[in-house]
Amino acid sequence: MSGGLTFQSLIPQASPWVESLATSPVAVFVNGPTFGYATWEVGHILSLILIGGTAILMNLRLLGAGVTNEEPREIYRNLRLWQNIGVVGIIVTGILIGSANGVKLYNSSAFTVKMIALLSGIILTYGVSRPVTLANGAVALLPKIWFAIGGALFLASLWVLCTSVLINVGVYHLITALALILIPVTRGRVRLGYIAGLAALIIAQFVHTHFIIKPDDYAHLDPVNKVYTALYGVWLVGAALITLFRGKGEVGGPLTKLVAYVAILVWVLGATAGRWIAYQ
Ligand code: HEM
Repeated sequence: MSGGLTFQSLIPQASPWVESLATSPVAVFVNGPTFGYATWEVGHILSLILIGGTAILMNLRLLGAGVTNEEPREIYRNLRLWQNIGVVGIIVTGILIGSANGVKLYNSSAFTVKMIALLSGIILTYGVSRPVTLANGAVALLPKIWFAIGGALFLASLWVLCTSVLINVGVYHLITALALILIPVTRGRVRLGYIAGLAALIIAQFVHTHFIIKPDDYAHLDPVNKVYTALYGVWLVGAALITLFRGKGEVGGPLTKLVAYVAILVWVLGATAGRWIAYQ
C-alpha cells in the first residue's frame, strides 16, 4: 500500500504552472475581500447538496423506493435543472478554491480519486442514469456503453481510494451510504434479515475493537478493522445483489438497478475524496 496516486507523480512537468497558481488573478480574487474563500467553499458544498439530493431521488425511484407515486421520467423532468446547477456549481467553485490550493491538490491522492470520480459521475449521470430515468427504467445500447466506461472509472477511483494510506478509511462513507440506501430498497423478510445482520456486524466490531482489543492498541486493531470492512462489503454487496433480482412491478430490470446504485455512490465517492483532501 502506498501514499497513493497523485497528479504530481503523473505529470511532474506541470510543477512550475501549479506553483504559479497561488499568485494567479483567480487565486488572488478567491482569497480577496469581495466574497472570501469560505464563501466559495460554502458554494461548493451547496452544489454538492443539489447533486446528492437529485441523484438520490432519481436513482432511488429506479430502485423502486422514494417518490414512487410519480413516474421516473416525471421526477427527472422536475429535477434535471437543479442537477445541472449542482454539477456546474461544483466545478466552478472547485476551480476557484482549487486555484488557491494548487500545490496541495497536486500532491493529494484524495484529489486524484475525486477527479476520476467526477469524470465517472458526469458519465454515469448524463450518459446513463438520466437517459434511463427518462426512459422509465429501460436501458438502451448507448447508456450501456457509457455504463461500462463510467463503471470502470468508478472502480478505478475506488481502487485508488482503498490503496492510499490515510484516506483509505474514507471507504466507510461509501459503506454507510450503501447501508442506508438498502434500508428503503429492501422489502419484507429480506429487509429484516439485512438489518439484523448489519446490526450484528456493528455490535461485533464494537465489542471486538473496544473490549477484546484495547482501543489504543493500533497494531492489533488495524488488521481486525480491515476484516470487518471486508465483511461489511460482502454483506452490503450481497444484499444489493439480492435486490437486483427481486421486486415485482418495478421499473427496469437488474441492470437498471445496478445503474441506480452506482449513480448515487459515485457522488458519495467524490464527496468522500473531497473531504479527505485535508488528510492526504
Ligand atoms: C473541478 C473539480 C473540483 C475541484 C478543483 C475541487 C477542489 C476542492 C478543494 C480545493 C477543496 C478544499 C480541500 C481542503 O482544503 O481540505 C475541496 C473540498 C471539497 N470538495 Fe471539491 N473540488 C472539485 C469537485 C468536487 C466534487 C465533484 C465533489 C463531490 C462529488 C467535491 C466535494 C468536496 C467536498 C465534500 C469537500 C470538503 C469540504 C470541507 O471539508 O469543508 N468536490 N474541493
